[in-house]
Amino acid sequence: MCYNTLVKIMPMENEFSNITKTAIILAAGEGKRMKSSWPKVVHRVSGWPMLAHVLKACASADIDKTILVLGHGVQAVSRAIDLKGIHVVIQEEQLGTAHAVKTAMPEIEGDQGVVVVLCGDMPLIREESLGALLAKHEHDGLAATILTAMLDEPSGYGRIIRDEDNEVIGIVEERDADGAKRAVKEVNTGAYCFDFNALTQALEMVSPDNDQKEHYLTDAIGILHRDGKKVGAQICIDPNEAIGINSRKQLAEANRIMQTRINDRLMDEGVTIVDPMTTYIDRGVAIGPDTVIMPGTHIEGETTIGAECTIGPSVRIIDSDIADHVTIGYSVVRGVKIASDVAIGPFCSLRPGTVMDSGSKAGSFVEIKKSFVGRGSKVPHLSYIGDATLGIDVNIGAGSITCNYDGFNKHATEIGDGVFLGSDTMLVAPVKIGKGAITGAGSVISKDVPDDALGVERSEQRNVAGYASERRTNKIDKTKNEGVDDV
Ligand code: UD1
Ligand code: CA
Repeated sequence: MCYNTLVKIMPMENEFSNITKTAIILAAGEGKRMKSSWPKVVHRVSGWPMLAHVLKACASADIDKTILVLGHGVQAVSRAIDLKGIHVVIQEEQLGTAHAVKTAMPEIEGDQGVVVVLCGDMPLIREESLGALLAKHEHDGLAATILTAMLDEPSGYGRIIRDEDNEVIGIVEERDADGAKRAVKEVNTGAYCFDFNALTQALEMVSPDNDQKEHYLTDAIGILHRDGKKVGAQICIDPNEAIGINSRKQLAEANRIMQTRINDRLMDEGVTIVDPMTTYIDRGVAIGPDTVIMPGTHIEGETTIGAECTIGPSVRIIDSDIADHVTIGYSVVRGVKIASDVAIGPFCSLRPGTVMDSGSKAGSFVEIKKSFVGRGSKVPHLSYIGDATLGIDVNIGAGSITCNYDGFNKHATEIGDGVFLGSDTMLVAPVKIGKGAITGAGSVISKDVPDDALGVERSEQRNVAGYASERRTNKIDKTKNEGVDDV
């Protein structure tokens, strides 16, 4: 290969970066086909609003400036997505994709460079494809380059029209296409690169002469071709990238594809996923090697899980940080920090603000809210722990709870190192149990218990001889508790 060819295929770093790259992301549409009161682009795919996936692809493509075209539900979009560093322009009336791009053009600094256009409803676009699109556009010196995909079922998409030399000459929307054009399987993904000046000229010439009476960006391709400009296409390797989300069905399909991608990546990184079909992991989740994810598990939001954990079956974890060697089964964990070697479940609800220190345990039918559970401490069965601090090696007897709410305010409970709570202890907060103290089973503890003391609160037991057998033989009127008072 001669040097000249090499340069053409792999341009010098600085030759590439000298060209200003501006991205315009179209997201002004209402998304009528979603039948939603929310703007389409805030609907979620693997935990992120679909627009956030597009912004992520953009952020990784070395773009100098990103302009977002909004129209419907501007507030809902800015609430759902971090728009820091993104320039927002408002398209008051949605007159079509070309009109949306035109609205953004005055924001492009220096009136030059490459303009990358993306749709906010294409969350499956990969950064590699965007990179390949930009590379093709620049290497071939094209006025416009379309990212296309080959689909077995192309219905609903704009079709790529090529001449007898296989050169791209235009795009036809499905509703404006005749039978032969409808049969074309190469579709427009809705991602393009344009030379700034060529795009400016073409936008002036787009007319709403089509079935929807809209200004179609897709017409810019035919206009540039007829004007003698070079247009081309980059076919993406993964046809799923083309999926534009117009309906709830497509939203579900995109979620399924994204789920497969995320699970495949995690398995490549050394995570065991026993049944990928029933494992739902959001894009913002990180999991360490040799962790086993059992079926029916949902891991959501910004969650991190360490190495060698066993998660599931049937677990939901949201926005939590989990260290190594943790087991969680049949439980819901939200907004929680869990240190290493902790066991959770079955049937646990860990609520926001809870911290489980290393070696601690929350067992069956336990709810813990906004509490610190110290190193090696155990809450094994049927407890509610709220607004509490547990020291080291505490043991909470079965059925014990903190009575943290008096109907008006929440109050704190402090449980010192080595405390042993008898079963069914009610801790009426605010209350403090000193280090090494114990409580009698069934006590309602409303006063502080000093270090190493026994706190007990219950009446003395009495036994009524023969009562049970007399009751069985009906000598006692059960409705009156007859016999008990006579003792
Ligand atoms: C569009 C393309 C089609 C392509 C498909 C890929 C056109 C005319 N057609 O069709 O060739 O195969 O995407 O998914 O471009 N928008 C605005 N302002 C408007 C109109 C639309 O911002 O005035 C935004 C929408 O919010 C959406 C994007 O542009 O994010 C695409 O619009 P949509 O109506 O979904 O176009 P499609 O019919 O899917
Ligand atoms: Ca669409």
